[in-house]
Amino acid sequence: MRVTVRPLRDDEISLYLEIHERAIRGLAASHYSRADIEGWVVPATDENLRRLTRNADREIRFVAELHGNPVGIGALVVEKSELRAVYVAPEGARRGCGSALVREIERTARDNKLTRLTLHASLNAEPFYVALGYDVLERTEVVLPNDHPMAVVRMGKNL
Ligand SMILES: CC(C)(COP(=O)(O)OP(=O)(O)OC[C@H]1O[C@@H](n2cnc3c(N)ncnc32)[C@H](O)[C@@H]1OP(=O)(O)O)[C@@H](O)C(=O)NCCC(=O)NCCS
Repeated sequence: MRVTVRPLRDDEISLYLEIHERAIRGLAASHYSRADIEGWVVPATDENLRRLTRNADREIRFVAELHGNPVGIGALVVEKSELRAVYVAPEGARRGCGSALVREIERTARDNKLTRLTLHASLNAEPFYVALGYDVLERTEVVLPNDHPMAVVRMGKNL
């Protein structure tokens, strides 16, 4: 299977949100309530598209392609030593796309002189990050944009 990872282009914000939503609805819904899912999905409103385009946190964003088709997205925030996002749409799942995104994020982090990454993993993604060498630091909650608390796992890895 042919998996490649490349930078997200500026004109691909809608694609980023589409993959984000399909990954959540298709692969995470079994672990979360409807309110969690609706608060987690980022609808492609003009405001959200503008916010993502503005990219205040300076996320470095990636796309994973499977046989040339975009199926995954990922993001790194260097200033926060944070692996911000890894999402793979259902048709690309369990084919190494998520791992390829994490490898590219870690490589980029090392290129930026980072020696450690932390992240907030969704409950469904914990075994994925454990398989890639991340340790559980804390079981906690984040507050979603709809004010709903969502259970997550803070994890970290020395690079
Ligand atoms: C978590 C996610 C990114 C994994 O992507 P993926 O492309 O399927 O992952 P990979 O194929 O690279 O999996 C690598 C290894 O991780 C582990 N793994 C991945 N998904 C797993 C799952 N659902 N359950 C248990 N282990 C899993 C396995 O060890 C797997 O190796 P294997 O397939 O040879 O057994 C994907 O399931 C997803 O997008 N989920 C919904 C969105 C989400 O929760 N993202 C994370 C936000 S923090």
